[in-house]
Amino acid sequence: MRIGLLGFGTVGRGVYELISQRTDMKVKWVLCRRELTLRDTKVTHDFQDILKDDTIDTVIEVMGGLHPAYDYVRQAILAGKNVVTANKAMVAAFYDQLLPLAEEKDVLFRCTASVGGGIGWLSELERVRRIETVSRVGGIMNGTCNYILDHMTRRGLSYGDALRQAQELGYAEADPSSDVDGIDTWHKLVISANVAFGVSLNREQIPVAGIRHIAAEDVARFTARGLTCKLIATAKNQGGSFSAYVQPTLYPAGEPEAAVPANFNLITLEGNTSGRQSFFGQGAGRYPTAYNVVQDCVDLIGGTGFYGPWGQKVSLTNEETYSYYVRGDTDSWLEANTKELWDGAVITKPVSVTNLHTWLREHPCTFAAAMPKA
Ligand code: NDP
Ligand code: HSE
Repeated sequence: MRIGLLGFGTVGRGVYELISQRTDMKVKWVLCRRELTLRDTKVTHDFQDILKDDTIDTVIEVMGGLHPAYDYVRQAILAGKNVVTANKAMVAAFYDQLLPLAEEKDVLFRCTASVGGGIGWLSELERVRRIETVSRVGGIMNGTCNYILDHMTRRGLSYGDALRQAQELGYAEADPSSDVDGIDTWHKLVISANVAFGVSLNREQIPVAGIRHIAAEDVARFTARGLTCKLIATAKNQGGSFSAYVQPTLYPAGEPEAAVPANFNLITLEGNTSGRQSFFGQGAGRYPTAYNVVQDCVDLIGGTGFYGPWGQKVSLTNEETYSYYVRGDTDSWLEANTKELWDGAVITKPVSVTNLHTWLREHPCTFAAAMPKA
């Protein structure tokens, strides 16, 4: 396998190092913006150098962002080159275009590292789906948010210090808003649900709330009551009725999610035969992510691509109800739906996901988290 590697940042450098130790694949070109010299590998700022090189059979895209990443990947597929990517923003946005195009052009496409970093979640999900119906996928899908929440809870760090550490460790996106506002988790949920259910979710209908506004006072209230806050993705297929949402959620001690440390993810599916299966591992970081990129390359050498059928567009209804912890703004809707107060913070009566997220969008500096189900 002769590879054009697009991107030489946290993940790209790790991929380069791992591939350098192998004899079955070689990085011939690296595309990046900075000045860089590599032994035995050409470095370019011009993607055309890679596209026009007929000896390159595989493009690995680890640049991030939608453009030019998507344009390069598309051109690579059109030129008959296989593609491996870790770029969940791009895969979630262009899922319906990329997979059919790869099939039409008879090239292989894989993106295991795009969800769960170093966890073989997507490749296992694909195997699960060969023989059973999946009714739910979700869990902790963002290493940066888990790192922040874990370090605020167990080490008493401030939100800002914990985020800075996650950035220094290479876990965060180039713009960490994508992590803390739940966007990255949203992308991963879309990809997971599409693979699990064989559909194409209407991603604009997925309500997303992040952790940007969590404060030490929230964490203190949760800890005093034996609860731990995690950012959770949920997607369900209940007999052809689909729901999906991303929101902070509280777990009592003893639940597996409550114990997930640092940059780890815990992603779970419910299958009609296997029941509940959870996948635990490092969801972010150079080598865990590079590991899954290289695993995908090995799969390509074996002729295994990704993850059809991509299925029809489906709409969502998010009428499931939760009680929520809400701290920040208040108004007559919140007062009418208040069940109790925790030192000034509101615990709501059960309200639908749709209603709570609609209210939250109108009160964007407020922090809310779903309470454990009774
Ligand atoms: P970085 O920001 O560390 O690296 C991005 C690399 O891409 C840099 O080498 C940059 O070049 C290069 N690049 C970006 N835009 C261009 C462009 N227009 N032309 C040429 N080169 C470009 O990102 P990461 O390595 O952290 O992430 C890469 C991808 O992997 C993203 O999609 C991310 O979501 C995904 N991912 C990241 C994980 C992680 O833990 N970090 C885990 C799982 C997935 P230069 O530095 O020269 O500017
Ligand atoms: N920023 C992402 C995270 C990288 O923290 O989970 C892995 O996808």
